[in-house]
Amino acid sequence: MIKSLKNQLVLALGLLVSVIGVVQGVSSYQLSKTGMSALLDMRLEQVAARLRDGLADSLPKNPARGTQDERDVVAVVWKPGEALPFRTTDPSLHFPRDAQPGFSGVDVNGEHWRMFTRQEPTMTIQVAQRSSIRREITQEAATQTLWPIAVLLPLVWIAVALVVRRSLRQLNELGEEVRAIDMGHLQPLPTVGVPTEIAPFIHSINTMIERLATSIEKERKFIADAAHELRTPLTALQLQADNLAPHIYPGNQERFQELRKGIARSGKLITQLLRMARADAPMNGAPLARVNIADVVTAAVADVLPIALSRGMDIGAEEMVNAHVRAVETDIGMAVKNLVSNAVRYTPDGGTIDLRTRRDGDMVWIDVVDTGPGIDEALLPRVFDRFFRANPDIEGSGLGLSIVKAIAARYGGDVTLKNRSDGRSGIVASIGFPVEEASESVPSPALNL
Ligand SMILES: Nc1ncnc2c1ncn2[C@@H]1O[C@H](COP(=O)(O)OP(=O)(O)OP(=O)(O)O)[C@@H](O)[C@H]1O
Ligand SMILES: [Mg+2]
Repeated sequence: MIKSLKNQLVLALGLLVSVIGVVQGVSSYQLSKTGMSALLDMRLEQVAARLRDGLADSLPKNPARGTQDERDVVAVVWKPGEALPFRTTDPSLHFPRDAQPGFSGVDVNGEHWRMFTRQEPTMTIQVAQRSSIRREITQEAATQTLWPIAVLLPLVWIAVALVVRRSLRQLNELGEEVRAIDMGHLQPLPTVGVPTEIAPFIHSINTMIERLATSIEKERKFIADAAHELRTPLTALQLQADNLAPHIYPGNQERFQELRKGIARSGKLITQLLRMARADAPMNGAPLARVNIADVVTAAVADVLPIALSRGMDIGAEEMVNAHVRAVETDIGMAVKNLVSNAVRYTPDGGTIDLRTRRDGDMVWIDVVDTGPGIDEALLPRVFDRFFRANPDIEGSGLGLSIVKAIAARYGGDVTLKNRSDGRSGIVASIGFPVEEASESVPSPALNL
């Protein structure tokens, strides 16, 4: 069974056209044969008429036997009362003198002939032609009529294939668009210029996209609301613990500290959940600014500097390019800080962390390179999954990279995490955003006043 719609259409239309072509060919072949036969008959009649009108007398009296071309018609003229023909174009052929007037078929010398007999008071005229020659002539003429169809049929197949391909191209384009639907940006498919047959299909997909977007938004709101609701009792819990601290017996201090750490961990998780819900939220006209990438990198380094120094780490930024991105400044800052804080968190004391920025086409990339243990290649594809942690020994909620990915997608950027390829162990975490060129800069409303 043919699965491709295109092939099915081409085959069906091609076969249909071929059947029509064959029927047309057969009928024109038959018609042409009949027509040619009638013409040949007419010729016999004409020759007979001319013989009656005096041509008979001008025929040679004793033509040599067998000299006549076998494709020519043979003429015999009889006079009443005479036993032998008055004139004949081939004396070796003996046609029956008493044949019925008009057309008839006779066998002479082992060959079949088509003969026209004309009875006149003064003479009987017979004009005949070999049936095999007539067949040859009619077939030749009929075959000529088949040529156009034979040439046209393959061309029609090609034309059908081209037309079908052209008509289905829009379906392919639609397939590409459906494939490109991004869960982060659920945009409905365009409906303008779409063929009427495909429009209901697109409408269904768009309804589905709408429902999907609504349910994703509901889920996001639920996370945001839940995190928000949890924050208040947790803050109260933290305050209570702080108040209790001076009253805890020294023997219970260790367990009490564990309790406080647990509360702090929950607090961090709630903060990350809120950040993720925010990063996933639609932009909804948030004010965009021209964000200087070098400033973001400097701020991210400054943020982790105290902890990095306390752990004997060497952290620095180099190779700064001058590039700007149009975005909500805190988004870009949060994404870069997440990558830098991962590098600090997962690199052992005394390690090195380098930040650098680079231009690649219309993108600006920030690379955060560390000298930590890296990540098992098999686990790398999962690091952007929510709550995934490759190293459970080190504390973390597993949401940082999901937040980074959501922020990158929000601005049409991208984020990658790879093990270092220069022979040293460590991670190269890169985040890229489309550059806002200086000329594209939109002046802030304040400047327009
Ligand atoms: N630079 C790095 N070196 C080694 N492993 C890393 C690095 N960055 C991330 N990982 C691994 O990827 C996992 C996911 O990182 P992610 O930032 O999403 O979560 P987290 O750091 O565990 O928690 P959070 O960032 O929410 O506090 C981490 O748990 C860690 O195992
Ligand atoms: Mg992290």
